[in-house]
Amino acid sequence: MTDSLSQHQEPNGEAPAVHLEPDGDIAFIVIDNPPVNASSVAVRSGLLDAIERLSGDAGIKAGIIIGAGSTFVAGADIKEFGRPPSPPELPTVLAAIEACPKPIAAAIHGAALGGGLELALACDARVALADAIVGLPEVTLGIIPGAGGTQRLPRLTGIATALDLVTSGRRIGVREAAKLGIIDRVVEGKSLRDGAAAFVRALPGKRIVADLGVPPETDEAIAQAEQRALKSGRGREAVAEAVKAVKNAAVLPVREALAQERAAFLRLRDSEEAAALRYNFFAERQAGKLDGHARARPINSVGVVGAGTMGAGIASVCAAAGLGVILVDANTGALEAGKGRVSTALIDLHRVGKLKAASAEAAAAHVTYADNIAALAGVDLVIEAVFEDLQVKTDVLQRLAATVRADAVIATNTSYLDLDQLAEATHRPADVIGLHFFAPVHRMRLLEVVRGAKSDPTALASGVWLAKTIGKLPIIAGVCEGFIGNRIYTRYRAQCEYMLEEGALPQELDAAMEDLGFAMGPFGVSDLSGLDIAWATRKRKAAGRDPRERYVGIADRICEMGRLGRKTGAGWYDYSVGSGRGAVDPVVTELVRAEALKQGRPQKILARAEMQGRVLGAIVNEAALLLGEGIARSAAEIDLVLVNGFGFSKFRGGPVFQASRKAPAEIEAMVEAAGQATGFGFKRGDVGSLMAGVPN
Ligand code: 3HC
Repeated sequence: MTDSLSQHQEPNGEAPAVHLEPDGDIAFIVIDNPPVNASSVAVRSGLLDAIERLSGDAGIKAGIIIGAGSTFVAGADIKEFGRPPSPPELPTVLAAIEACPKPIAAAIHGAALGGGLELALACDARVALADAIVGLPEVTLGIIPGAGGTQRLPRLTGIATALDLVTSGRRIGVREAAKLGIIDRVVEGKSLRDGAAAFVRALPGKRIVADLGVPPETDEAIAQAEQRALKSGRGREAVAEAVKAVKNAAVLPVREALAQERAAFLRLRDSEEAAALRYNFFAERQAGKLDGHARARPINSVGVVGAGTMGAGIASVCAAAGLGVILVDANTGALEAGKGRVSTALIDLHRVGKLKAASAEAAAAHVTYADNIAALAGVDLVIEAVFEDLQVKTDVLQRLAATVRADAVIATNTSYLDLDQLAEATHRPADVIGLHFFAPVHRMRLLEVVRGAKSDPTALASGVWLAKTIGKLPIIAGVCEGFIGNRIYTRYRAQCEYMLEEGALPQELDAAMEDLGFAMGPFGVSDLSGLDIAWATRKRKAAGRDPRERYVGIADRICEMGRLGRKTGAGWYDYSVGSGRGAVDPVVTELVRAEALKQGRPQKILARAEMQGRVLGAIVNEAALLLGEGIARSAAEIDLVLVNGFGFSKFRGGPVFQASRKAPAEIEAMVEAAGQATGFGFKRGDVGSLMAGVPN
């Protein structure tokens, strides 16, 4: 091996993103671009340079591309996507690997995803550690593979399997990948370097995947895979384009199909959906990151107090993740009903593949039941999920504080109560945090982890750890009524109700909100969850309400008619005729019109864009207040709350992201309109600062 291979230095003196490490008659091409070896411009140039030098060195028979650190290559550098492509582009690098006269293998550990797997597919062989994963997740970012994934993968797996993998973005383990022909050798229990070196030395020569034919398959198998893909990716351009690209592998010359794939990739990369999904991707990576170095306290067992819908849901998700759970309820009837709820939720989690244990019964064995808080003396973390009432919760938390160990974390699942007041009442506020789950707990990904004024950083870190362990997305929130999600939702709903008094009907508002990005409009949502709880809250708060505040009484009138939503067969809509979304009811239309008349407000026809603008104005203003008050940490985390807890489409980023695509003057006009409609008590947030935090 010559010295020339190992002596390469970056001109600026920095550690190179790619370097060559000679090993006798072979050379390792090491990609070293922390944290995940994304194929940035420096990596692409480094690879090109390394291949050229390897090709020209007579002492070297073969090369092995390997990743430094914890992973192979996680894909293209997503941070580069908002900018024009910089040469050399990945397809150029892959063409150089194929043109290199010497065999080059990929040695995979950690993850080979997107451009990382495409890099490996351009190699002559793929060797991987047994616990590595591979996949082409591009559609989850609103794009399709842009460096040959749609052409090389089907040449190894067949079209039907490639359609499944590319259109779902599914990540698979190496054993499955080996069965599908993607991986040539699984290295068990020994060094990846040694295993790869031995394998490469025994290679007979080059095997260029792009030159292979597509394995034969029946038209029926392909048609079925295509139908499945288009069904689950309905309405998504990236999925439709991915299907088209993969199918090209069977009919077009490979160079032409590669060119078409690249063109579609570059076009989709600049789409609004891709921008929204990228925004979400980076926001999710920031969510739950804590300032400072506080470590979570060790948590193996969890106590839950209250076996109602929320408590049983919390117990189920903890058990599903393999934690030991004790569910406590003083009412033995409620405890029995809770057992049933836990079992139903675990069966559902098993069905969707989200159980650590082999079966719902095995997971259920993680839960024990008790009728006394004394049973929680030994647990590491306890969550109270009892009735939302200050006195009831204070009482339970005080008893918990006196029962659990001094190093245990005490969490409350309150939605609206003052966490700091509850924490003070325990006399150990440093151990208290909020864990605000959303119903149904086993389905909803959002978990607001609430930081009290005196919460110890280790208690907060424990809440974040728990959220991640049970598969939830932790969003850290400060203390205020409704935290992030419910506070925004309240403003959103109120703005919709104002519009009812100004001439809009529930079905028009629901349709406008669904068109904006919500999975279901606010009136449909009310009917689904029941109108009675919010009605009771309004009655409770009536005495303290400032009479100058705008108050819309239509929902009260609906409730007074006994229309409490789907469960009573009627609410904002009529459900007496079959199931489904409910029918528009002339009774409600008449009531809305009559109430509007009573208020004497001028009536007008509200265009869909106006309804959406009013709502966006109300949401971004509240988001700006939340940010200004330090309740929320960023615009992107507010959007994550609305996407993961309130059904806003992730393909549209979130309401704040949607607003940020508009001109500042238009945003200003939306906020102004929302403020005018609100009238007394409307407080302006610094919307400019909020928008400045949203990446382009
Ligand atoms: N580009 C840029 N940064 C990336 C990245 C990427 N592809 N993947 C991860 N990162 C960053 C994260 O933002 C995070 O940065 P931070 O520390 O500054 O917050 C850091 O790497 C670590 O990421 P995670 O917190 O996600 O680390 P994990 O260990 O939990 O997960 C992973 C590692 C499984 C690799 C996960 O990061 C992941 O799934 N990454 C995305 C993979 C992907 O979607 N690849 C396809 C890209 S598109 C493409 O390749 C196009 C091609 O066809 C041309």
